[in-house]
Amino acid sequence: MDRALIGAMDAKNIPAIEVVETGAGAQEFAGAVEDGLARAPKMIPAKYFYDAEGARLFAAICELPEYYLTRVELTILKARANEAAALAGPGCHLIEFGSGASIKVGLLLDALADPRSYVAIDISREFLLAGAEAAAKAYPALRVVAVHGDYAGAEALALPDLGAGRRLGFFPGSTIGNLTPGESVGFLKRARALLQDGDMIVGVDTKKDRTILDAAYDDAQGVTAAFNLNLLKRANAELGADFDLAAFRHVAFYNEARGWIEMHLESRKAQQVRVSGRTVPFRAGETILTEISCKYAVAEFQEIARAAGFRPLAAWTDDAARFSVHYLRGAGRS
Ligand code: AVI
Repeated sequence: MDRALIGAMDAKNIPAIEVVETGAGAQEFAGAVEDGLARAPKMIPAKYFYDAEGARLFAAICELPEYYLTRVELTILKARANEAAALAGPGCHLIEFGSGASIKVGLLLDALADPRSYVAIDISREFLLAGAEAAAKAYPALRVVAVHGDYAGAEALALPDLGAGRRLGFFPGSTIGNLTPGESVGFLKRARALLQDGDMIVGVDTKKDRTILDAAYDDAQGVTAAFNLNLLKRANAELGADFDLAAFRHVAFYNEARGWIEMHLESRKAQQVRVSGRTVPFRAGETILTEISCKYAVAEFQEIARAAGFRPLAAWTDDAARFSVHYLRGAGRS
């Protein structure tokens, strides 16, 4: 990973933000697609959804009536931001994993006493910079650092020297659900290293009636279908692949035994696709697994947090327990 600090951005009326490039790029996407399509069953990691168009489509998903996650999490954060801030204490460096448009973080920044800096980490450059700039504009006295990279490699990310003060992690949106339970333990351990044993706030979607879950990932307007199919569009644009988008369809369902949503792209017919100079055969009905989205009961997620060395201090839910926000204590404090 190239960890160059490429400098500060400065636009009219917007305080400068520091931008760190970690070198996550097209090379990696090519390798992941080639490797994933050579497997049985075929798969492509979900993190590659987020090119500029994918990030735009995801923002549209967050507004959908069926996609309750964003709205409910915001409600919980609004109600509990002061409690979270009291647990965190004054003078924190707030580090957000998968920051996207940095909308939810404002609720925490408003509640925290004397936050020292806001570090936003995201793989989608356009959204990262827009979110970091918005934060810099809203909090002119705050140091804002935008890290363009894959938060999954948390401990390997080179952050500039943040100076004194505890680090507080923030991982909203149930993005942790896009990792398997085992991967989540690994990620949280790496996050703990980056946070130097600071605390962490994590948004986690809960298990619920499958009709609600199925609808959230297969909406009536077809935005989630477009988001899923955009992965093939991206492969065509960046890898010179020749996927016919009309020959694949979006499939999403709750796998109750696993406790996760599965999103697939299903081949509507037997066909061959050229990807990076290779021919990839598809049977009719064969799928590419593009995402899992794990749903956890509060106690299940607390077990994962404990396995990673965190101590669960609070788990806040809405009245219908549709979503949960966990406050996890790092090992650095009693
Ligand atoms: C980013 N992540 C938490 C979303 C989710 O709900 O798993 C991605 C998503 N996929 C389809 N809709 C939204």
